[in-house]
Amino acid sequence: MPELRATERRILLSNLDQPGYTPDLGCYLKHDGYASLKKAVGMKPDEIVNEVKVSQLRGRGGAGFSCGVKWGFIRPDEKKPVYLICNADESEPGTFKDRQIIHRDPHQLLEGIIISCYAVRARLAYIYIRGEFQVGARILQNALDEAQRSHFLGRNILGTDYSLEIHVHRGAGAYICGEETGLIESLEGKRPYPRIKPPYFPAVLGLYQCPTIVNNVETLCNIPHIIRMGGAEYAKIGRPNNTGTRIVCVSGHVNKPGYYEIETGAWTIGQIINDLCGGLRDGKKLKAVIPGGSSAKVLRTGEKIKLKQKQPDGAMAEKEVGILDIPYDFDTLTAAGTMSGSGAIIVLDETADIVKALNNINAFYAHESCGQCTPCREGTLWMRKITDRIVAGGGRPSDVGLLGSVADNIAGRTICAFGEASSWPVQSFVAKFRAEFEAACADKNQPVT
Ligand SMILES: Cc1cc2nc3c(=O)[nH]c(=O)nc-3n(C[C@H](O)[C@H](O)[C@H](O)COP(=O)(O)O)c2cc1C
Ligand code: SF4
Repeated sequence: MPELRATERRILLSNLDQPGYTPDLGCYLKHDGYASLKKAVGMKPDEIVNEVKVSQLRGRGGAGFSCGVKWGFIRPDEKKPVYLICNADESEPGTFKDRQIIHRDPHQLLEGIIISCYAVRARLAYIYIRGEFQVGARILQNALDEAQRSHFLGRNILGTDYSLEIHVHRGAGAYICGEETGLIESLEGKRPYPRIKPPYFPAVLGLYQCPTIVNNVETLCNIPHIIRMGGAEYAKIGRPNNTGTRIVCVSGHVNKPGYYEIETGAWTIGQIINDLCGGLRDGKKLKAVIPGGSSAKVLRTGEKIKLKQKQPDGAMAEKEVGILDIPYDFDTLTAAGTMSGSGAIIVLDETADIVKALNNINAFYAHESCGQCTPCREGTLWMRKITDRIVAGGGRPSDVGLLGSVADNIAGRTICAFGEASSWPVQSFVAKFRAEFEAACADKNQPVT
C-alpha cells in the first residue's frame, strides 16, 4: 500500500497556477516552454522512445495502454509515411480535462505532439478535436501559427533537418469519433465506423492504411515532462506501472466538483471525495461512485473489495477494503473490478435514483451506437427501452433479468469496445443494486418523470 498524500501534484497543470498565465507563446516561453523540444531534437528518435518506455507512461484516453510500447510498434518503412493523431475528442461522459489544457496551455500540448512526432518519425500530424469545441479549435490554430512563426514547427524545426506539419481537424460530433479507428475513418472523410482489430491496429494499418500513433491529449502533454526530467525520474512519481499524475474530473454530489491533478495511486477515492472535493453536499451519505467515466463499472458503498497489499515485512497479503479506501490508479481499480478509464469520477449520494441514473446512461449509449454491429445497435436500444419503461412505472419483474441478459449478449460480441462500454454499466448497476431494480419493477405507482 503506498503512503497516501493529501496535496495535489500539479505537473501538467502547473502553468495554470502562474498568476496572469495566458495561452500565448510568449507566456509559455517565459515558463520554460519548448525547452524539452530543444533537448529532444538533440537526441535520437529511438532514445526518446526508450525514455518514454522507461517512464512507464500509460495512455490517459481510457484503456491505459503503455505509450512507449505503442510507439515501439512503429517500424520505419520507407514506402509508407508515419502519422500521429492527437485524440482531443473528449466525449466520455464526465470527462472535462483535455479541454482545460487546450484552452489554457495549448503550447504544452503542441510541444508534446512535436516531440512525439519526432520520436516516431512522423512528418504529418492531426489534432482531432471534438466538433463542439469551436473555441478550443481556434485557440489551437492560433498556437500552431505562433509555433510555426518561431520555428518550433514547420520546415527545419529549430534549424534541424526535421520538418513537421500539424493540422487541427474538427470532429464529427459523435462519441464514437473518440474510438481511435472510428476517429481515423472520420479523419479520412467517412462515417466513423470503427474498424476490426486485428488487422486494423492503428500502429500497423492506421490513417490511409499507414502506421499511425493515436494518443490522448493528456498522454501527449506528459512527454515534455518526461524529456525534461528523464524517464527514470518520471517513473518515481506514482507507483510502479502506474506512474506520473492523473487529472481526475470529479462531478456529481460533491461540494467542490472540478478537475484535480493527483499523483497516481497516492490518493484513495475517499480522499479525493473528502479532502479534494470538500465531501458530499449537504452532509449526505455516499451511495455509489463511477470511477472512470460512464463506461466504468459502478462501485457501491458497503461493498468489500479484495486487494493485494504489501505488508510491513514485504510479503503480499489480501485485504478487504471499502470503496473509499481504494487507491486511485490503473491497476488497483482493475483489481477492484472496474477501471480508472478517462479519469472521470462521478459521485452519487444517497438521494440518487439508481434506476434513473442507469436510464440516463442507457439513453446516451443507445443514441451513440454507430449501428454497425447488431448486438450493439439493437441491444443498446433494448436496454434503453427497458429502463425507460421501468422509470415510467411499467417495469415487469422479468425486466431485471432481461436487462442483464441483453448486456451479457453485447459485451465481447462487437467490433469495438463500445459494446463493453455500454454493457458494463448495466451489468454492474443491476448486480450491485438489484433490490432497487426489483422494487422499481414491482411498484406500479412509480412516478412518471
Ligand atoms: C467508444 C470509445 C470512445 C472513446 N473516446 C475517446 C476520447 O474521447 N478521447 C480519447 O482520448 N480516447 C478515447 N477512446 C480511446 C481511444 O480509442 C484510444 O484508445 C486512445 O485515444 C489512445 O490514446 P492513449 O493511449 O493516449 O490513451 C475511446 C474508446 C472507445 C472504445
Ligand atoms: S460496438 Fe457499437 S459502436 Fe462499436 S462498431 Fe459495433 S455498433 Fe458501432
